[in-house]
Amino acid sequence: MAQRRIIIKDKTFEVAIPEATILEAVANVARSIKKDYAERNPYFLIVLNGAFVFASDVIRLVDYPCSVGFTKLKSYVGTNTDGNVTELLAVPEDVKGRNVIILEDIVDRGYTMQYLLHRLKEAGAASSVIGALSLKPDHLMVPGLPVRYTGMTLPEAFIVGYGLDYDGQGRTLRDIYAIVED
Ligand code: IMP
Ligand code: MG
Repeated sequence: MAQRRIIIKDKTFEVAIPEATILEAVANVARSIKKDYAERNPYFLIVLNGAFVFASDVIRLVDYPCSVGFTKLKSYVGTNTDGNVTELLAVPEDVKGRNVIILEDIVDRGYTMQYLLHRLKEAGAASSVIGALSLKPDHLMVPGLPVRYTGMTLPEAFIVGYGLDYDGQGRTLRDIYAIVED
């Protein structure tokens, strides 16, 4: 495949994972969830903004009763994270007593998920696991995170597309693009 390059603001990106590969990975995640949670009426907690495309594909492949809720967490400014997580849309109260599957775009250092799991415990969820589109294993700082479902593992490069952004741009790209360092 020809390397397609795009420019977003001050950065150059090139295709890293084509749409067909992403959709295959997403279908695998959905299949596993569907099998594990049959008749358990799972609660999908979607982490805004980045996971909205991934989540909308996953939840429509799980075609039995489930609930869907949203939270919005922010841990990144530009291409950096400092470990501080801000809750911009609170964890919904109706997770109480439910088997929660967090749908997240990327588990990077792991601080965002560590924070959310703590909040779900406080809110009285019966169980909580993570379903992540992607994981950057070389970056992970939090040991023992319950990342039960992973679509793909990624190298360290910053990526955009399929819901992921660079400073608010790039979310609608169908392929995933990785930053080209100059
Ligand atoms: P963590 O707390 O370090 O695990 O950061 C996870 C959050 O950072 C995710 O929710 C992503 O939205 C964001 N993030 C991490 N890596 C990238 C990336 O390469 N591109 C876009 N967002 C990213
Ligand atoms: Mg995110």
